[in-house]
Amino acid sequence: MDRIRKALDLARLERDQPGVVSAKAAPQSSPPVEPRVLTRVATSIIYTKTRVFEPDPAILESHRIVNPSGADSACSAFRMLRTQVLQRLSEHCWRSMAILSPGAEDGKTTTAINLAVSLANDHRHTVLLVDCDLKRPSIADSLGIVVDVGVDDVLMGRASIEQCLFHPQGFERLVVLPARAALDNSSETLSGPRGRELVSELRSRYPERIVLFDLPPVLGADDALAFLPLVECGLVVASEGSTRREDLLRCMELLRRTPIVGTVLNRASDVNNAYG
Ligand SMILES: Nc1ncnc2c1ncn2[C@@H]1O[C@H](COP(=O)(O)OP(=O)(O)OP(=O)(O)O)[C@@H](O)[C@H]1O
Ligand SMILES: [Mg+2]
Repeated sequence: MDRIRKALDLARLERDQPGVVSAKAAPQSSPPVEPRVLTRVATSIIYTKTRVFEPDPAILESHRIVNPSGADSACSAFRMLRTQVLQRLSEHCWRSMAILSPGAEDGKTTTAINLAVSLANDHRHTVLLVDCDLKRPSIADSLGIVVDVGVDDVLMGRASIEQCLFHPQGFERLVVLPARAALDNSSETLSGPRGRELVSELRSRYPERIVLFDLPPVLGADDALAFLPLVECGLVVASEGSTRREDLLRCMELLRRTPIVGTVLNRASDVNNAYG
């Protein structure tokens, strides 16, 4: 445990990055920043083309998707993460962020969904969550979406973005662009003209939205590294008990050209009491 925390601290110091947000512990304090408005206030959104689905609470619970307004430590940790992320995005006027980790099963997808839900729960922000893990897409399963066309079909020119968008009922201001299936040559596709076109279309068509991209592990495939130049920043997830120190350091080294807004220690064992 200490080794991974020290590795995160070391990586942060080397990069002069903000604090670690652990899944249960309060984050370290960071210098105050002047908040800027990222999005206009979205009062009510009518989804005309986006398909609306009703998420099954049992599926959400089994995939550890938390109630953004809940009172337990996981909910409050994600609200803390949301605020820190918003401050970083706001400082730089960034709107696109990749969720990254060194290895498989560190908790990227769980973090991406919970962060997206938490960001969208703030009425000032609308959020688009995109499954760009085209090695092992899993956002659809985690939310219980039955996907007939997905972002992989958009990338292959078989579908338009609008055909693939879903809005989970009860999660206002959140839209999901899931993947239907894994894609051969995913890193080439993501980093090639089709990937660039997808990102630029998402950014220009939805200029007010924060766009989160879920990706494969940084050390497991070249997809993340190939795709990163298309987004503005990244958030790194490490898993206490399973992420190895050397893998985390290697991952941060590979990410040295990517602005990292922060690090999340998933499966953290210590708990700081929440206030309130
Ligand atoms: N804090 C946690 N405590 C317990 N289980 C967790 C936690 N975070 C995630 N998990 C579980 O661990 C598994 C892997 O999580 P997740 O799919 O989010 O990781 P990932 O990094 O996206 O994996 P992959 O690299 O395969 O895409 C899932 O079954 C998830 O429910
Ligand atoms: Mg994943």
